Amino acid sequence: MPRDAPAYPAAALNPRAHQPVGVFDSGVGGLTVLHELLVSLPAEDYLYLGDTARFPYGDRASRELEAFSIEIAEHLLAAGAKLLVIACNSASAAALDAIERHLAASVRDVHVIGVLRPAAQLAVVASHTGRIGLLATPATVASGAYERAVAAADPHVHLESVACPDLAPIIQGGFPFDEAVVATVRGYCVPLRKADVDTVILGSTHYPLCAPMLQRMLGRGVALVSAGTGVARSVERALASRGLLNPQEGEGAYRFLCTGDVESFRALGTRFLQMPLGEVAHVELAARAAA
Ligand code: DGL
Repeated sequence: MPRDAPAYPAAALNPRAHQPVGVFDSGVGGLTVLHELLVSLPAEDYLYLGDTARFPYGDRASRELEAFSIEIAEHLLAAGAKLLVIACNSASAAALDAIERHLAASVRDVHVIGVLRPAAQLAVVASHTGRIGLLATPATVASGAYERAVAAADPHVHLESVACPDLAPIIQGGFPFDEAVVATVRGYCVPLRKADVDTVILGSTHYPLCAPMLQRMLGRGVALVSAGTGVARSVERALASRGLLNPQEGEGAYRFLCTGDVESFRALGTRFLQMPLGEVAHVELAARAAA
């Protein structure tokens, strides 16, 4: 099929089709998800918000993550987002339902896509033995949301969950990778090797950056799964079904907001996206100002 042929019968063009897709994360990790969107849906415009001032999310309480996520969702919608992608596992686990309830309560018909369901579905398809591992933040593991997503995709699969309190912060601050990163990753692989999994969900947006060392430690036979491609497919279907696919020719634009320091975001973000970031602006969120 030619690259630009629509994969799904699109609904009649919606007047909001030219508006951007809103994407958010606790920081720069969600750029690994954004990259998949830029590749799969190049004609879309994107507005990405990284909540770098409040990174990491992975050891926060779910109530707090719900409040942060609703606040960010409101900010992106006020900036014109036509669909929201929660490109953060910890926020998806804690807040996807809360954002949907919040939007429904104010009768706003905006589709919200998290990373857990697409990752769980890809993992279940990839596994031959039905033994799947999960590496994720303590918040994501404690929520039990991956257990539910995997069981919904296939109730006969065993999920071995490993909370990795240090990994995202180490990756965030650890370029180039040093021996401490290697030792930390190796430690998190031990329970996965013991559980004899054949597939591992990289359940934090940062972990794809560790994929080469994880693959070596776990062995070539273990499939590493992250949500990106599945999220892009869900976004495409959701936009097409509502007539929201951007009809513009060629590549769309992307721009960034962050709650912390702009230059640090640009420097680290370029490494995660492997592309120039262009426009990055600082944004002050109300809950942060109040905190
Ligand atoms: N984006 C976060 C996640 O996927 C990275 C880790 C963090 O903020 O603690 O869970």
